[in-house]
Amino acid sequence: MLLAPRPTRCPTNQPLGAVHPFLIARFVLEPGAIHVWCAPVAASEFARGRLAALLSADEQARAARFHFHRDRDRYIVARATLRRLLGEYTGVAPDQLILRYGPHGKPELDHPESGRAIQFNVSHRGEYALYALALRRRVGIDIEPLRAVSEAQRIARSHFTHLESRLICEATEEESRERFFRIWTRKEAVIKAVGTGLSMPLNEFQVTDNPERDTSWQVVRVPSQPDAAWAVCDLTFAERYRAALCVEAGPGELFFGRVQTADLSAFDTLGLRPILA
Ligand SMILES: CC(C)(COP(=O)(O)OP(=O)(O)OC[C@H]1O[C@@H](n2cnc3c(N)ncnc32)[C@H](O)[C@@H]1OP(=O)(O)O)[C@@H](O)C(=O)NCCC(=O)NCCS
Repeated sequence: MLLAPRPTRCPTNQPLGAVHPFLIARFVLEPGAIHVWCAPVAASEFARGRLAALLSADEQARAARFHFHRDRDRYIVARATLRRLLGEYTGVAPDQLILRYGPHGKPELDHPESGRAIQFNVSHRGEYALYALALRRRVGIDIEPLRAVSEAQRIARSHFTHLESRLICEATEEESRERFFRIWTRKEAVIKAVGTGLSMPLNEFQVTDNPERDTSWQVVRVPSQPDAAWAVCDLTFAERYRAALCVEAGPGELFFGRVQTADLSAFDTLGLRPILA
């Protein structure tokens, strides 16, 4: 694997000046660190065939059940890339990794030595997949392409808190769309970190009370999870996408890396950069 230090955009809503000048490019998770990887989900048919071979039998069966080829292909590349990243962190061959699933479908590592320690989460949409990894703390990540959502106000009124819904409904059109996606991705990141999926009502917790004053890390209280503390931050890694990360046990030291190409013969990663969030 090639680890080449090259400039990358600051993935949080911090100004570029806040990016640490040094690169660290190792697949080693220190306690307190959160690694976020961004990878493309496009691959040639040839590459995809080789990537599919890294999937377990149940993953291959799931791939075969997708109705649309586009969804199947994206699932194969995103899952194979997940296996390759986890392989780097655990030292286990990607096709030998065993994943298990929580009661609401959250994938986890099923390896006694590293599985309990390494927590991860994945989101894929459009051209990208995002991966979050951390040690002994749950993580959740969500990515959405920025787009017009005709029912945004109705969704906000039905699924967001009263204040969040007001922030969306009372804003100008452009502001309203920005706020909707910030709140949506943050909420999705929270429910994915907790692992409940949409079985937890999205209006149970609030992810912003003033978008103008959102800090890079926002502490979120989830009433049904009184024993855990959660923090969210936005990830701005590509112009037309919005994304958010949620971590258990408060803010952490954030690192961001890019996988250049999903192709098996050229699994090319740009070094992880520390971000002072
Ligand atoms: C998992 C969930 C929470 C989010 O899924 P999503 O936003 O559609 O898709 P994402 O790409 O962000 O996440 C999918 C990945 O999350 C992971 N995942 C699955 N279940 C999960 C769970 N309970 N908790 C955390 N992660 C989960 C898997 O890795 C999955 O990838 P895979 O399909 O390749 O296996 C899902 O429960 C869901 O149905 N979401 C609906 C989204 C929605 O309608 N939101 C409205 C907000 S206004």
